[in-house]
Amino acid sequence: MTDRYAVIGHPVAHSKSPFIHASFARQTGQDISYEKILAPLDGFAAAVGAFFSAGGRGLNVTVPFKQEASRIAARLSERARLAAAVNTLAFDGHDIYGDNTDGIGLVRDICGNLNRKLSGQRVLLLGAGGAARGVVLPLLNEHPRQLVIANRSAQTALDLAAEYAGYAPRPQGCGFGDLPGRAFDVVINATSAGLTDSALDVPADIFAADSLAYDMLYGKETPFIRQARDAGAAVSDGFGMLVEQAAEAFLLWRGIRPDTAPVLRELLAAGGQ
Ligand code: ATR
Repeated sequence: MTDRYAVIGHPVAHSKSPFIHASFARQTGQDISYEKILAPLDGFAAAVGAFFSAGGRGLNVTVPFKQEASRIAARLSERARLAAAVNTLAFDGHDIYGDNTDGIGLVRDICGNLNRKLSGQRVLLLGAGGAARGVVLPLLNEHPRQLVIANRSAQTALDLAAEYAGYAPRPQGCGFGDLPGRAFDVVINATSAGLTDSALDVPADIFAADSLAYDMLYGKETPFIRQARDAGAAVSDGFGMLVEQAAEAFLLWRGIRPDTAPVLRELLAAGGQ
């Protein structure tokens, strides 16, 4: 019997997850199907229930349901619990397990594909919304020298940083206005500003010499990427993170880690970027 998986969201038509998981399945010889489910905005829990009742094995969860997914999972990984968001659901035979592979996907893209280290580095995370929440613990697990979380609304960043007060290194929260005069080796944009082509009101001196600027958005060149390039930083969008978070979900579901490089190449060749 072919095992059923799907991505669930609203909207979901644009999702590249079916393409990515079909490639992983071919490459690893796994017999799975992978579809898209458009859930009504008020019908997420019912759609998840129906999918698993019908024998479904796992779901990727996308906008706007990641927070709700963390509430319907019977068990959560530590990283999903701390993120208060789930992007991967798995039916383990008894109940629904929730994980969040976004942060480890980001880390694997930066350290594996882009060949940059996070350990010992000064890392700046811009934004304190859902996208930022999803990546804090995996970033800390790489043992950066420091992790600063800066947000337009400083209080949200201070609150997010405070949730990790017991972790090392202890993250510092601040507003954009506190950034002048501070330089970072890796600057990660987790705000949604790029969606509206808005520039971030951050100073150019946040980009240290030889720094990497990473925008978690993909498919467009954002003002943040242009600003970082003008400041001399190496730049990357979030395409590799998309493929890496999918590979981590595939590993959770199938117990086998696909090789992401050929799939990333295929996607880019298909005009993904
Ligand atoms: P997501 O789940 O994509 O993170 P979100 O929870 O709505 O979405 O959070 C959006 C993030 O982008 C927030 O950190 C927001 O900053 P505020 O908390 O100050 O609103 C940030 N953001 C969005 N547009 C921005 C802009 N033009 N400039 C700076 N930050 C912006």
